[in-house]
Amino acid sequence: MRVLVTGSAGFIGYHLSRRLLDEGHAVTGLDAFSDYYDVGLKRARHADLEADPAFEAVEGRLESPGLLRDLLARIRPDIVVHLAAQAGVRYSLENPQAYADSNLIGSFNLLEAVRAHPVRHLLLASTSSAYGGNTALPFRETDRAVSPLTFYAASKLAMEAMAHSYSHLFAIPTTAFRFFTVYGPWGRPDMALFLFTRKILAGEPIEVFAGGAAERDFTYIDDLVDAIRRLADAPPSAPGAGGPVGPFDTLSSSAPYRLVNIGGGRPVRLDAMIDALERALGCRAQRILKPLPPGDVARTEASTELLQALVGHVPETPIETGIPAFVAWYRSYYGA
Ligand SMILES: NC(=O)c1ccc[n+]([C@@H]2O[C@H](COP(=O)([O-])OP(=O)(O)OC[C@H]3O[C@@H](n4cnc5c(N)ncnc54)[C@H](O)[C@@H]3O)[C@@H](O)[C@H]2O)c1
Repeated sequence: MRVLVTGSAGFIGYHLSRRLLDEGHAVTGLDAFSDYYDVGLKRARHADLEADPAFEAVEGRLESPGLLRDLLARIRPDIVVHLAAQAGVRYSLENPQAYADSNLIGSFNLLEAVRAHPVRHLLLASTSSAYGGNTALPFRETDRAVSPLTFYAASKLAMEAMAHSYSHLFAIPTTAFRFFTVYGPWGRPDMALFLFTRKILAGEPIEVFAGGAAERDFTYIDDLVDAIRRLADAPPSAPGAGGPVGPFDTLSSSAPYRLVNIGGGRPVRLDAMIDALERALGCRAQRILKPLPPGDVARTEASTELLQALVGHVPETPIETGIPAFVAWYRSYYGA
C-alpha cells in the first residue's frame, strides 16, 4: 500500500509510520513541525523514519491552500491516516485559534483533497474528550456526544461531523477513532506521564489533579498502533452492503462511516499511575494535590465491544509493563 500519514512527526504518527514501513508499505508523512512542544523531539522521530527509503517526508501545514490536493494528486495513496492536529485539552483554553486552524480548516482541506482524489479508506483521529461530560461508563460509541467541555473536543466533534457528510455525499469509506490517553516511548511532553517523569527526576514537585482520584483509560502505543493497523484493513461498507457487526456498531445508515473507540476499558487512578512511575524510576514524587482543572473530566473508560467485534483484539498492555517501557526510552533518549 501507499499510505499518507498526516502528523507523522507526532507521537502516534511516528509509531504508525514506523509500523507501516516495517511491514513494507510506502509512507508519505506530512507534518508542520509545529512548536506546541519540543520541535527537536519531532525532528528526531522524523529522522528515524527518513532513514527508510520507503518514507517520503513532506513539511507543510494542512491549511496551506492546495497543499493537500496537490499532494494526493501526486502520490495517489490507497489510504490516508489523518493524525495531524492541534492536540491537548488544556491548551485549547489558552489558544483556541490553533485548534480552529489545524482541526477545522486543516481537516476540511483534507476532506476536499480526498473528495478530488478518492482513497480506499480514510481514517481520522478523534478523542475520548468527544464524550464531553458523559458520566455513564463505559463510553460507548453509540452514546450521545453533543456536549463538548473544551474547544479541543468541539473541534474534533466538528471534524467527525464534517467527515460524515463527505462520506455520505462522496462515498468515502471513513473510520473515525476515539483514542483514550495514549502513552509510551517517544511520548508527548505535554502529557502527565512525561511531565511527571521530568519533574520527579529533577527533584521538583508534581501537581496531582483531583487529589489523584481522576481515572484514565491509559492505552499503550503499540496496542493503539495495532488497532489502527487492523482497522485500516476493515473499511466500513456502504449502506445496505453489509450489516452492523453488533449492537454498538456506529456504522452509519447513510454513509460508509463509523466511529470506533481505541482503548482497553481498564481505567487507572492517577495516583496508581504515579505509584507505578515511582517504582519504574526508583524514586519518590513530591505530590501537590490540586482540584480538577476546568474542561478535564473525572473518569474515562472505553467500551471495547465494537473494537473487539471489528478486529478481534483490544488493547491489553498494563501500566506495570507500559510505564517501565516509557521510562527506559526516556532515560536513554535524555541520558537521564
Ligand atoms: N496522544 C493521545 O493521548 C491522544 C488522545 C486522543 C486523541 N489524540 C489525537 O491523535 C492525533 C495524534 O496525537 P499525538 O499524540 O501524536 O499528537 P502530536 O502533537 O504528537 O502529533 C500531532 C502532529 O501534527 C502536527 N501538526 C499539528 N498541526 C498541524 C497542521 N496544521 N499541519 C500539519 N501538521 C500539523 C504537529 O506538528 C505534530 O507533529 C491528534 O489528532 C490528537 O488530537 C491523541
